[in-house]
Amino acid sequence: MPPAQLIVTERRLRLGVMASGSGSNFEALVEACQTGRLGAEVELLIVNNPNAGALKRAERLGIQSQLLDHRLYGSRQELDQALVTRFQAAQVDLVVMAGWMRIVTETLIQAYPERLINIHPSLLPSFRGAKAIRQALEAGVKLTGCTAHLVELEVDTGPVLVQAAVPVLPGDSEASLSERIHRQEHRILPLAVQLAAERIGLLDQG
Ligand code: GAR
Repeated sequence: MPPAQLIVTERRLRLGVMASGSGSNFEALVEACQTGRLGAEVELLIVNNPNAGALKRAERLGIQSQLLDHRLYGSRQELDQALVTRFQAAQVDLVVMAGWMRIVTETLIQAYPERLINIHPSLLPSFRGAKAIRQALEAGVKLTGCTAHLVELEVDTGPVLVQAAVPVLPGDSEASLSERIHRQEHRILPLAVQLAAERIGLLDQG
């Protein structure tokens, strides 16, 4: 008998995605699912901001989306509880923070232990926080990158799933470096989901 938590299934992995901005990483995940590179499907996108470009992408891609405006919640925990309630109703197996610019609490982390993934635009542990690309430019590093990792309570910490290095080129602006980092994020995020699912027995190791 396999251990109880081993849920290698006939069905595809069900993903929930959280986004605050343009949603290009959300779209990369959907595309990986639709092309069969990732044996999963995105069930639900949640955004915290009515102007998030991710909402339009969801509409175009035919993915269900919901807005949970963080300004309408009394605390971070209350917002996170609302996220958990929505994701549980959608029966998602894993949750991906794809450009979620809010600090999350134990309410969300404990609901998805080892199942909550974040993508961050630096080679962690360097340049944690909301301005990672600017920090890398200001520090004058020649190499930066992106990290997909499991989420722990301290911001931008937790076991690394995948990293990709990106060179900083002479004359780079935040926009040009961000574009180069985004290209790598779109490659590593589906891979990170695959690895996160494999390590807890949700997907067969390909
Ligand atoms: C991505 O670069 C992601 O790494 C970053 O937000 C961007 C979202 O882009 N996340 C953070 O900085 C979290 N600390 P997208 O909306 O195009 O996917």
